[in-house]
Amino acid sequence: MSQTLIKNIGLLVTNNSEIDGTSLGLIEKAALLIEHGKVKWVGASESAPSAEKVIDASGKCVIPGFVDSHNHLIFAGDRSNEFAARMNGQKYEAGGIAYTVELTRKASDSDLLSNARRLQHEALHSGTTTIEIKSGYGLTVKDEARSLSIAKQLTDETTFLGAHVVPSEFKGKADDYVDLVCGQMLTEVKSHTKWIDVFCDRGAFTTEQARKVLKAGIAAGLLPRLHANQLEQGDGIALGVELDAASVDHVSHFNNSDIEKLAKSKTVATLLPGAEFSTRSNYPDARKLIDAGVTVALAADCNPGSSYTTNMPLMIALAVREMFMTPAQALWSATKGGAQALRRTDVGHLSVGANADFVILKESSYIHLAYRPGVNLIDEVWQHGAKI
Ligand code: NIG
Ligand code: FE
Repeated sequence: MSQTLIKNIGLLVTNNSEIDGTSLGLIEKAALLIEHGKVKWVGASESAPSAEKVIDASGKCVIPGFVDSHNHLIFAGDRSNEFAARMNGQKYEAGGIAYTVELTRKASDSDLLSNARRLQHEALHSGTTTIEIKSGYGLTVKDEARSLSIAKQLTDETTFLGAHVVPSEFKGKADDYVDLVCGQMLTEVKSHTKWIDVFCDRGAFTTEQARKVLKAGIAAGLLPRLHANQLEQGDGIALGVELDAASVDHVSHFNNSDIEKLAKSKTVATLLPGAEFSTRSNYPDARKLIDAGVTVALAADCNPGSSYTTNMPLMIALAVREMFMTPAQALWSATKGGAQALRRTDVGHLSVGANADFVILKESSYIHLAYRPGVNLIDEVWQHGAKI
């Protein structure tokens, strides 16, 4: 029986509130015992059981691995010129997606896979041990199906986003495209996907079209989540709550009725500060949501248009500085919040029985993730009980 003990942890974040009555479930001078890729024991370092293999964390802080619940990694090319134009005053609109669609359709399967692998590797080395990956740059039956079969090689958290935008060949025929998404496309992709998603916003799909797509996905056995209220106030959040979506994502605009609905529901609000950063948009007030009782997650939204980063520590720093979250709230949202947005109970925390997915930071406190922005504070990443 192979056991590994991580001892002499200065501060352990378990996200188990039973430990100390706070959401981070903190233990000072802690130890963590791992067996068969799972957490076997947690507690004070001085009362830790013995193990064959012992790692000394030298007083550093250990946190659960980040659970990044929103990414678009299956694409070709980049949009650096669009970014530069935006920084020179141009507004972000959903239309830029068409350019990535064009390049993605032309790319080979192996190029799409190696690009996504490169980004997943980047994410893992910055502490992301669970990652969600969407399709959405294919927008034909064949290209959505291959996007998802590539995504499935990298993660179990795959999401069908055939309803990302209406592709150019369906211009003026959005309802016909919605019928394709809900019909043949869904049939072809459903064995490769856990989630169904739709971009419900200006320049993408209306609330009615979004409802149709999500309901078709649900009827096919998929679980709903959606992009809502990134570009303007709309009914996307209400739709997500109505359909018991695991998460409504972006939520850059919301009103009091949205807050009330979310607070009474199991639907998580997933905030994507990388998108506000890269589109120079106003950040939503996360504190307002949290104070009202809404569960908030943070994700990187890695994509070539609105947020070309995989870095969850940057999301934490931005959420603290720009969205009024405390460092503790931001860390919880990037770990257990992300797990709740994926309806997962085995990741995002370090209680007995959870996956042994964790990060040893270079510092003695998680506060440094926001306090030292842009600095690589990741010392070691462990996934399924093994150091990567
Ligand atoms: O989540 N908002 C819609 N989709 C992506 C952006 C896609 C793109 O610009 O390529 C997002 O931000
Ligand atoms: Fe997105």
